[in-house]
Amino acid sequence: MSDAPLLQLEDLHVQVEGKEILRGVNLTVRKGEIHALMGPNGSGKSTLSNTIMGHPNYEVTKGRILFEGEELVELEPDERAKLGIFLAFQYPTSIPGVTLANFLQASLKAIRGAENVKPLEFRKELLGRMKELGINQEFAKRYVNEGFSGGEKKRCEILQMALLNPKLSLLDETDSGLDIDALRIVADGVNQLINPEMGVLVITHYQRLLNHIKPHFVHVLVNGKLVQSGGPELALTLEERGYDELLQAHAVPAGA
Ligand SMILES: Nc1ncnc2c1ncn2[C@@H]1O[C@H](COP(=O)(O)OP(=O)(O)OP(=O)(O)O)[C@@H](O)[C@H]1O
Ligand SMILES: [Mg+2]
Repeated sequence: MSDAPLLQLEDLHVQVEGKEILRGVNLTVRKGEIHALMGPNGSGKSTLSNTIMGHPNYEVTKGRILFEGEELVELEPDERAKLGIFLAFQYPTSIPGVTLANFLQASLKAIRGAENVKPLEFRKELLGRMKELGINQEFAKRYVNEGFSGGEKKRCEILQMALLNPKLSLLDETDSGLDIDALRIVADGVNQLINPEMGVLVITHYQRLLNHIKPHFVHVLVNGKLVQSGGPELALTLEERGYDELLQAHAVPAGA
């Protein structure tokens, strides 16, 4: 099924805690494509990315998620990761007691197979990638995200992406909390990783990230539905007009 799109969402409905958050999302991401997902707070963007990754709190009540033609809904998050799906979290959590280097090595082993990760080569690759992303080497010895600043956490998410080299990357507000220089460094890092075999879904509130990571498509999620799709110019229009009109036009029906 190598000709199948990387990701196909078909009429995806998702509930969280018994409440319907996604209400029929259709989206196709093919190899080599960068899609941006925008939309007001609470519209369901993180719900969408968490659901694709298989977070247990998010229940698919209707519709399908296909990855290279394979149905994902029954698969565990680690199985999805092995297929080549990666999620950079909006709010990365800390893992006390586990160093960043050990954590990254463990995740790489889980994906590639332990026998395919040689400690010395891993170390070299890790330090090289850290340098590219402007992360001080000292961070390798620190516990994952423990006391990291907002921007440091986001850089480490991209560091993980760089090492895992996924087929599909979901970046949930990777730009939030980054200062101007860090935004450029992280965006450059992502751009270097993007290749014609990879698909990317970038969730962001800000056009400025999209000046660096240029999307082929921009979609707007409002109240759990994709209400508009277009090219990069759509992000500019949204920045100018805000979401008011779209929110009014796509209010959740009473009782839903
Ligand atoms: N675990 C949860 N328990 C209860 N409600 C949840 C949970 N996860 C999401 N929701 C609700 O689902 C809705 C969509 O949330 P989501 O985080 O997907 O929005 P978002 O579009 O990512 O917003 P933001 O732009 O603020 O990040 C919100 O109303 C949120 O409160
Ligand atoms: Mg979110």
